[in-house]
Amino acid sequence: MQKCLVTGGAGFIGSNLVERLMGDGVQVRVLDNLTTGVLDNIEPFLEDIDFKQGDVRDLDALQEVMAGVEVVFHQAAVVSVPKSVEDPIEAAMVNDLGTLYVLEAARRASVRRVVFASSCAVYGDLPQLPKRENMETRPLSPYAASKLHGETYALLYRDLYGLETVCLRYFNVYGPKQDPTSPYSGVISIFMDRAVRGELPTIFGDGEQFRDFVYVADVVQANLLAANRDNIAGAVINLGTGSSVTVNSLWANISQFAGVGGEPERVEERPGDIRESVADISRARELLAYEPLYSFEEGLKLTWEWYSSRSTRH
Ligand code: NAD
Ligand code: UD1
Repeated sequence: MQKCLVTGGAGFIGSNLVERLMGDGVQVRVLDNLTTGVLDNIEPFLEDIDFKQGDVRDLDALQEVMAGVEVVFHQAAVVSVPKSVEDPIEAAMVNDLGTLYVLEAARRASVRRVVFASSCAVYGDLPQLPKRENMETRPLSPYAASKLHGETYALLYRDLYGLETVCLRYFNVYGPKQDPTSPYSGVISIFMDRAVRGELPTIFGDGEQFRDFVYVADVVQANLLAANRDNIAGAVINLGTGSSVTVNSLWANISQFAGVGGEPERVEERPGDIRESVADISRARELLAYEPLYSFEEGLKLTWEWYSSRSTRH
């Protein structure tokens, strides 16, 4: 891979991907409108990457950044489930239409492959666990619906136009550079941020809901494999660890690192929330030769180090 485009490259996962690609000597372009992403995340690379502030719904901007690109990593999206419940139109505009625009621009620019950041949210709350890719999907939120629509378009572009597309259904990603500042942020970033301040978090529902938390470096690793492996065009692949942790035990772990005692505030369950989520990662192992390299304990420790050093810098 010589030249690639990362949409949403100033965001949490996108900027970690940019860092790794730069380390591997790949030429990187980034398109990001900086709604949730920040330039700080890619500041050390700004001189060497081609950064364009722009929207994935702008076909002209996309065509400009797509010229000469071999692989597109499409990360840009409205990422929050509750935000999509509050504003389903905006979520659809960015996630459904934005993904269609990215695919269309890639087709016109003869891009070899598009790797699409989908989500395990597509499975909804159907009872079978762990989640396998051939199971029924049942989105519970506009966000989940939009990711499923993105996958449908990605497969169509493979079938109709021969554009190689690979959809990665990320489970719950965590690690350095995840923005904790919004109520819509990922739970680990919020809990870490509270803990470094010595504050208690809010837990929605009884806290016994569980997630498959995957460390961001493993997600980056899988993106690179998805960009480079042969004979995987059209594949939809789970990306998690195969293990799960409840929200209660997540806080128990983080509060121990931080030495924060006391009972978190408990409020009603969030509408659109999934209760139980854990991945079967056999397909990722088989098609990508993917193996998660970070245990939950290791990932959490590295993440804690980042949030605690960040708090001393700010
Ligand atoms: P993030 O919010 O940090 O990154 C999203 C990036 O997209 C931001 O930099 C934002 O500014 C940019 N963006 C948003 N709308 C845009 C638009 N219209 N045009 C151009 N750029 C735009 O979130 P993240 O956690 O890094 O998520 C990256 C991708 O991974 C998303 O597609 C998300 O749905 C998916 N995903 C994330 C998780 C997770 O746990 N974090 C899990 C499953 C799937
Ligand atoms: C997250 C991602 C979404 C992704 C999905 C895959 C973010 C912001 N969202 O959504 O993009 O597709 O994983 O599963 O990264 N919680 C609390 N207290 C808080 C915050 C959250 O108890 O302060 C609970 C929530 O109610 C939920 C769990 O923690 O049950 C996880 O929430 P969150 O981190 O927002 O993740 P998802 O909704 O799973």
